[in-house]
Amino acid sequence: MTYSRILGTGSYLPERVLTNADLEKIVDTTATWIQERTGIEKRHLVSEGESCCDLAEIASRRALEAAGIQASDLDLILVATTTPDQIFPSTACLLQQRLGVRGCAAFDLQAVCAGFVYAMSVADKFIRTGSARRALVVGAETISRLLDWNDRTTCVLFGDGAGAVVLEASDEPGIVSTHIHADGAYTELLQVPAGVGNGQTGSPYLEMRGNEVFRFAVTTLGRIVDETLEANGMSKSDIDWLIPHQANIRIIQATARKLDIPMDQVVVTVGEHGNTSSASIPLAFDQAVRDGRIQRGETLLMEAFGGGFTWGSVLVRY
Ligand code: COA
Repeated sequence: MTYSRILGTGSYLPERVLTNADLEKIVDTTATWIQERTGIEKRHLVSEGESCCDLAEIASRRALEAAGIQASDLDLILVATTTPDQIFPSTACLLQQRLGVRGCAAFDLQAVCAGFVYAMSVADKFIRTGSARRALVVGAETISRLLDWNDRTTCVLFGDGAGAVVLEASDEPGIVSTHIHADGAYTELLQVPAGVGNGQTGSPYLEMRGNEVFRFAVTTLGRIVDETLEANGMSKSDIDWLIPHQANIRIIQATARKLDIPMDQVVVTVGEHGNTSSASIPLAFDQAVRDGRIQRGETLLMEAFGGGFTWGSVLVRY
């Protein structure tokens, strides 16, 4: 049996920082409201001329360096993004060119905030079936470009960034299991209406009914945790680290309670960068690997929920 093992991680946050105090000058909000309702203290934003691929490239180079391999060793480049630089080529193809390699498969995957768990699931299947031996999986976003900076109910929540992991075929897990789901019946709760079709374009801004999304996310993430443990005959106490999608501290705390896992075993970075959509899990993961919290041999549970709705989990023996 072939599994995927995580060889290395990398991440990058753009230099420009917008604090909650800065937001008080832009919209009718307070730093206290944002902090108390979301746990977010600041977010990093791309500057003019800075692209999603720029963020993806830096995170990817860091992950390749940590993995100790060259880009030319890759068989697959998979970028989870909701904010591609262009409609086409894919950000993955742009990234491949930046990394100076040719020939390996490269494509984007769009599952909004669940994009990284979806991409890990797909890359894992490529490796398990022998279609690839080494894969670069990236979550990269410039969500700030989808925000209406007059809408206080959304603009305070999101930020930009990128994270990446390198996977390699191995005789032992690695990725133990992945679980991904979607329910397309909830478009009106979380969407960017604009698109490419019949010359009709809706609003180019992110729209969200936050309260309803919140409730749905908490319930659904609780279910995905149960599904993942049951599928592997594991119990809550087998999980060493929860690495959740970083959307809102209250959603993260609710999932931790469901797992009976103390908050010091939960990787929380939402305060530093807000909701970076598909970049948030690999950003949090990389930080906890680099600061020495996550150690080889530990069991990690990643989980995410996003527009679509999409949701999923990745169980890893690191
Ligand atoms: N600053 C100050 N007040 C704000 C505000 C802001 N930035 N945004 C909303 N408010 C106000 C509302 O207008 C409302 O006022 P009202 O009571 O006078 O009508 C009040 O705060 C409460 O709004 P509500 O939406 O009920 O707050 P909440 O406790 O649900 O928190 C969110 C709002 C958005 C933080 C929360 O619903 C949330 O995190 N939802 C999930 C979002 C998410 O994670 N989405 C991505 C999933 S991938």
